[in-house]
Amino acid sequence: MSLKISDDFSYKKQIEWWKAIIDSINDGILVIDHQGTVQLINPEYTKITGVTPEMIVGKSLRQIRPTAQLPDTLADGKSRVAVYRKEGNIEYMVDMAPIILNGEIIGAVSVCKSLTEVHKLSQELKKKKEKLKQLERTMDSLYQAKYTFDQIIGKNGGLREAVHIAKKAAETSLPVLIVGESGTGKELFAQAIHNRSDRRDRPFIPVNCAAIPSALLESELFGYAEGSFTHAKKGGKMGLFELANHGTIFLDEIGDMPYDLQAKLLRVLQERKVRRVGDTIERDIDVRVIAATNKDLQQLVSKNRFREDLFYRLNVIHLQIPPLRERREDIPDLIYSLFRSSTVNSSNSSNVTYSIDEKTLAVLQSYDWPGNVRELKNAIEYAICMAEETHIHLHHFPEWITKSELTDLAQKQSIQTLREATEKVERKLILETLYQFGNDMEGKKKAAEALGISLATLYNKIKKYKINS
Ligand SMILES: Nc1ncnc2c1ncn2[C@@H]1O[C@H](COP(=O)(O)OP(=O)(O)OP(=O)(O)O)[C@@H](O)[C@H]1O
Ligand SMILES: [Mg+2]
Repeated sequence: MSLKISDDFSYKKQIEWWKAIIDSINDGILVIDHQGTVQLINPEYTKITGVTPEMIVGKSLRQIRPTAQLPDTLADGKSRVAVYRKEGNIEYMVDMAPIILNGEIIGAVSVCKSLTEVHKLSQELKKKKEKLKQLERTMDSLYQAKYTFDQIIGKNGGLREAVHIAKKAAETSLPVLIVGESGTGKELFAQAIHNRSDRRDRPFIPVNCAAIPSALLESELFGYAEGSFTHAKKGGKMGLFELANHGTIFLDEIGDMPYDLQAKLLRVLQERKVRRVGDTIERDIDVRVIAATNKDLQQLVSKNRFREDLFYRLNVIHLQIPPLRERREDIPDLIYSLFRSSTVNSSNSSNVTYSIDEKTLAVLQSYDWPGNVRELKNAIEYAICMAEETHIHLHHFPEWITKSELTDLAQKQSIQTLREATEKVERKLILETLYQFGNDMEGKKKAAEALGISLATLYNKIKKYKINS
């Protein structure tokens, strides 16, 4: 059935009508006659393609637009649907059909739809995707482990054994328990394992179980559902386990994890699923767990302060990091490595080379380093800061490191009474402990705990001995 226009219209009027209809169509229209000469285009065609009637009407389509496919439709009489076309920067879709009159092909018509809108949206999508990628990269770099096994300095047998086991552990996703005194490099080992494992491009999430208030620890670890408590965020919050998905979670100071939370942690490890606080659904997770402690977990187990089942679950691979005083032979190498990585004078020149004499090295090797490598690192930074040259002398180090308690006391003839001697040692011990843990609130708490006194007592003594804090 063909279209019909009212017979009332004059021929001229009919032509005007046809023209108006074609002009008002929202798609671009181009018509060629049986010879392939363009007979008409509508304004939308010009809008989409940029081609004006002056440029094309009355001319051979093939000549003006050599890649046009409409002449093919003319030749084979076949319609073509949704053909993608690109001329310069302009993209559009074209439907093409032959025009048949009395069984004869008398021309062909193409109907074009602009892809500008689609294009704009796809550009926007591309931009958003790039932004998302950028954010993902930022997130990955935020949660990336920076240390590798190459940065673990030491030739000591016990340390090499730990490195050997840790490298084996890196080939698996088994839980690892790292045990060692404060500052022995537990986090360093945890990062090195992650970076050597096939999880290296995924997040490494450190969690200090002792630093997060126990009331918050559960929702920090496992997240919470919307509306699960008064100030819960809309949409809830993802927990650190979910954040660590496909990567590694490092549970530092695991010995400080509240007892009731230990059962929940065990369930997560066994079932490999987390349920956000106040949520009904469980989410699958694939997280490698490395835990660390400077406490004797087995003793905590025997005192019923640490769950035995969790202990066995975490202690699949056991890494024992020896304290520095048991590997004094590594002290010189550590010192030279710390010299190279020191950032104390980085603003002056990055290529300063420090030296140290044998006597100073010997004294540093005979000190007990209760704060282990961290204390050594702090002492080196301190000495570099004190030295005005690149040679580091004994007198650049804090006194308690370079003078043993006894020689120190013997040299000070002025000390007469037991009280004076006790106070002297007490002051020195407090200074040393604060130096080891840091002078901030967190450091003071740890120092008080290490000294076996309350925080209030520590404050009183800091005041009494006029220790800068
Ligand atoms: N064998 C080592 N070689 C080089 N650097 C080390 C070594 N061991 C520790 N360090 C450095 O000493 C510092 C303390 O290490 P780390 O934070 O890993 O100790 P930690 O055992 O986690 O301490 P804490 O129990 O106090 O958390 C870090 O700067 C680390 O790079
Ligand atoms: Mg640590």
